[in-house]
Amino acid sequence: MTATSLEQDLASLAESCDACRLCKLGSSRSQVVVSRGNPQARLMVIGEGPGAQEDEQGQPFVGRSGQLLDRMLESVGIDSNHDAYVCNIVKCRPPENRKPTALEMASCKPWLDRQIALVDPAVILLAGATAVEGLLGIKGGMTKIRGQWRQWEGRWLMPVFHPSYLLRNPSKERGAPKWLTWQDLQDVQRRLAQLDASL
Ligand code: SF4
Ligand code: URA
Ligand code: URA
Repeated sequence: MTATSLEQDLASLAESCDACRLCKLGSSRSQVVVSRGNPQARLMVIGEGPGAQEDEQGQPFVGRSGQLLDRMLESVGIDSNHDAYVCNIVKCRPPENRKPTALEMASCKPWLDRQIALVDPAVILLAGATAVEGLLGIKGGMTKIRGQWRQWEGRWLMPVFHPSYLLRNPSKERGAPKWLTWQDLQDVQRRLAQLDASL
C-alpha cells in the first residue's frame, strides 16, 4: 500500500472510532485514543486501553506506564514513535481504569482488526493479560505465556508483562518481572533485526 493511501485509510479509521458508540465506553470517555507511532513500522504494540493521561491527550501509552514502556523499548534500540505503531484493545477509557469487559473488547475488536490489516506488522508485542485476551481469547497466566513467541495469522506475537505491573514490581534483579521483560524485548529486537536482514 502506498504511504498516502495508508494515511488516508488510517485517518478514516480514526474518524470512525471518534464517531463510534458501539459500547458504553463511548459515552464516558473524553476522547477516543486510536494510535501513535509509525504506521509503516514492522512492530505493533498493543496494550489494554487508555488511562487518564491517554484519555486527556488522545494518544496511547503517554502516562506513567507508557513512559516506562518507552524507556524499556529504547534500551533495546526501539523508538516507540519511529519503530512502532502503538494502540490498544479498546479505544475508549474504561471508568476508574477498570479492565474492559469481554463485551467492550468484542465491540472494539473490528477497529483493531482493521489497524492490524492496514499496518500489517510482522511482529506484535502484546502488553499484558488483557491484550492477550482481547486478541487471542486466551485468559490469564502471563507468567506462563510471556516470553514465548507465537505465530498468529502469519505474524510473530510476543506476550509481555504490562508496564503497570512492572511499575508495581520495580525490582531489576535477575529473574524479576522487569528483568524478564527486558529479555523479552531483546528477543523482539533480535527478531526485527533478523527480518531486516532477510528483506
Ligand atoms: Fe467504540 Fe471501541 Fe469506544 Fe467502545 S471502546 S465506543 S467499541 S471505539
Ligand atoms: N495502559 C494501556 O494498556 N494502554 C495505554 O494506552 C495506557 C496505559
Ligand atoms: N498479571 C497481569 O494481569 N498482567 C501482567 O502483565 C502481569 C501479571
